[in-house]
Order: sequence, then structure tokens, then C-alpha cells
Amino acid sequence: MIEYRSIRVGLLGAGSVGSQVARLLLEHGDELAQRIGARIELVGIAVRDLDAKRDAELPRELLTTDADALIVASDIVIELMGGLEPARTMVLKAIASGADVVTGNKALLATHGPELYAAAEQVGAQLSYEAAVAGAIPIIRPLRESLAGDRIDRILGIVNGTTNFILDRMDSTGASLEDALATATELGYAEADPTADIGGYDAAQKAAILASIAFHTSVPVAAVHREGITSVTAQQVESARRAGFVVKLLAICERLTDPETGEEGVSARVYPALVPREHPLGAVRGANNAVFVEASAAGPLMFYGAGAGGVQTASAVLGDLVAIARRHVVGGPGTAESTHAELPMFEIGRITTRYAITLEVADEPGVLERIAHVFAEHGVSVEQLQQTVSGGSERATLVIGTHEATESALAETVASLAENPVVVSVASVLRVEGAM
Ligand code: HSE
Repeated sequence: MIEYRSIRVGLLGAGSVGSQVARLLLEHGDELAQRIGARIELVGIAVRDLDAKRDAELPRELLTTDADALIVASDIVIELMGGLEPARTMVLKAIASGADVVTGNKALLATHGPELYAAAEQVGAQLSYEAAVAGAIPIIRPLRESLAGDRIDRILGIVNGTTNFILDRMDSTGASLEDALATATELGYAEADPTADIGGYDAAQKAAILASIAFHTSVPVAAVHREGITSVTAQQVESARRAGFVVKLLAICERLTDPETGEEGVSARVYPALVPREHPLGAVRGANNAVFVEASAAGPLMFYGAGAGGVQTASAVLGDLVAIARRHVVGGPGTAESTHAELPMFEIGRITTRYAITLEVADEPGVLERIAHVFAEHGVSVEQLQQTVSGGSERATLVIGTHEATESALAETVASLAENPVVVSVASVLRVEGAM
């Protein structure tokens, strides 16, 4: 029997992910020791309430309310408390006391990432966070390491399972957003307060993290353009379905070159968009997540799987833990964040995209010409136009698909259309992404 040295691990938080991390560590200790070449000794689990009900049964003697003492006693700290404080203070304490840190806290990284990365780099500590984006799906390590020699052009991510469940349900059953959200709540996908998910805040935090790694640039969450799914209607989803599209909430991270100035920059944005059904992201069902990466040399890559769930996300935490523990065995400092590029953030108005616009218009001579004129005066080229007239009605429905244009030109076009006397209403505006 090999006598392994021990690496002391302190776990902060025993919620749905934390309790599964503890269970797996305790159940698979021998196997992990062989993989690492050292034994992981779970020295304690800091919790707020010693008597709270947990998803996994944990040895009572490991539970403590003294997180500070646990941090000092640990070589590696796993932070799974969530929220900004006291998580930020705890992570900084862990780094200052010489520990490496694994966290799954996307809000913390998206808000205080640069401060935490700098603190870790200063002392050569490792800060790892595979669990912070897309749950079980390996995406942070592939971006940081496997694709480190490539150049990433674009990431299109379905990184929020709750909204994907809701949009998928609307698509497959014709349900309204309200009804689909009620089902998501009943089945436990949506939180009691679903604002972070349906408002796109959760996806925006993940977009900030992905863009930072992909483009070697600090991208603050405040610089991520965010639109949630609250205004998506059953009718939009149904029209999209008939036209061969599916509505998805996308986190888009893009490296761009300004066509006029040649300036290079980065865009990170979250909004619901039409995705062709045959695109790999079009097939992402239920509460699953997927991240579609377009890299210069590697070409398109798709990462798919469970984006949440206690035991699934625990897998990502343990992967980080094993990698750090192996480094403890061989020695050497942690890998710092790469922010060498520090590209400027491009405002939403500077990006190019395509719009699908549905208009209710008066059905009379000259209307099409006047509509076409609005597009022309904003330099937006129309790619497709479909007109439907209901029998006996004096109105027509126009569905107009544009070619690529800048977001500012497209938004101004829509604003002008809304004011045009022949337009009864702008019934729907959605961007189109993932052209095949
Ligand atoms: N609330 C998130 C989602 C899971 O619905 O995907 C945690 O990031």
C-alpha cells in the first residue's frame, strides 16, 4: 500500500454542489489519491447552519461555522458559497494564507475577477473556476489550455439552462412565456425569483468570463450588452418555427475589426436570437447548455451537456481540484490569467448582425416602396421579404430579413419604421445569429 502525503482541502458551502463535492471526495478518496499521487484530506466544510438539510449526508464532525479557521488550515480552498460577500473576502483570505482556490462563483468572477486574479498571481496561487460557466461542461480549460495556441474568433453560448428550458417548451408546445416559466418553476429549473435567469443577468456574467479568457482581455460584466427573454412571445417562437428557426438566448463573445478604422476590439452580448434549426445550437433541448466556439485554426467546436445540477457541477469542481493537487505534487506556481491583449470593448452599436422584422402595414399602393425607402436611407440591405394578407383585411403582414448591417443602422431603421405612417405596428424584431 502506497503511503501518500496529504493535501488539505477546506470546503466553503454545502449547498447542492458543495454537498456533492464533499460526498464524491469522501467516496472516491482512494482512486483520487492514485490519480493525483497525494491524498485529498477534506479537513472541514464551512456552513452557516450546522443543522440545515443537505442533498448528501455529510459527517457531522467535518461541519464548522468557523470559515476563517478552516481557510488557514487548508492547502486548497473550494468556495461554493455563491454571492459576492463574504465569498470575495474568503477567497482573498485563502490566497493571502497561501492556499489555491477553486470556485464555481460566476457572479464573484464577473464582478471582482481582476482583483482576485491579481491577488493570486502576486503569490503564485492558482484560481480555477471550471464550474462557473455551463456547469459540468468543460469549457474554461479548453479555452485556457487546449485552444491556447489558436485564435478564437467567436463564441455562441447557450449558457443558461432555465431560459433554454422555457424557450424550448414554448417551441415544442406553443406555450406562452408565462406558462413555460410556471412549468420551469414546478420542475425546479427556475428559482423562486427567476430575474437573474430570464433577465439575462446570469448569462451576462458567464459571457464576461468566457470573453475574458477567449480574448485575453478583462471584460467586466458591466460591459456586456444584456437583453433577457421577458419580451419573447409565443407568436415569435411560432413564426420562427415555421421559418426553420428556433429562438435561443445566446451569450455572444466576438473579436471584431472595425471596417473603417481597422481597430480591433471585443464584443460581449446576451440577447434572444433566431438560430437556424440545423445549427448545432438549434438542437439544444430542455435545460441543457452548449457552447459553440469558432477558432481560426480548429474551426467550429461544440461543447454540450448539463449546465447545472449539484452532482454534474461537482464534476467540474473536482476536475479543478485534481489539477491543482497534481501541481502540489510536482511543485511550481499556478497559471496566471492571460490578459495580454487588453482589447477595447466595442459598444453594441458597432457590431454587425442581421434582423428579422415583422411589420403590420396598411395594404395599399406604394407601401412597399415607402418601407424599402426607410431601409435604403439607413444603408440596410433587405435579403428577404414575405408578405401575407389575411382575407378581407386592409392590413398586410411583412416579414423582412436583412443582410448584415451595423446594430446602430438596424436600430435606427426600426425606429424610423415605427414612426412611418404606413406602419401600423412593429410586431417583432429579433436578431438572426449562427447563419449556416
Ligand atoms: N441558473 C442557471 C441556469 C444555473 O439556469 O442555467 C446556474 O448557473
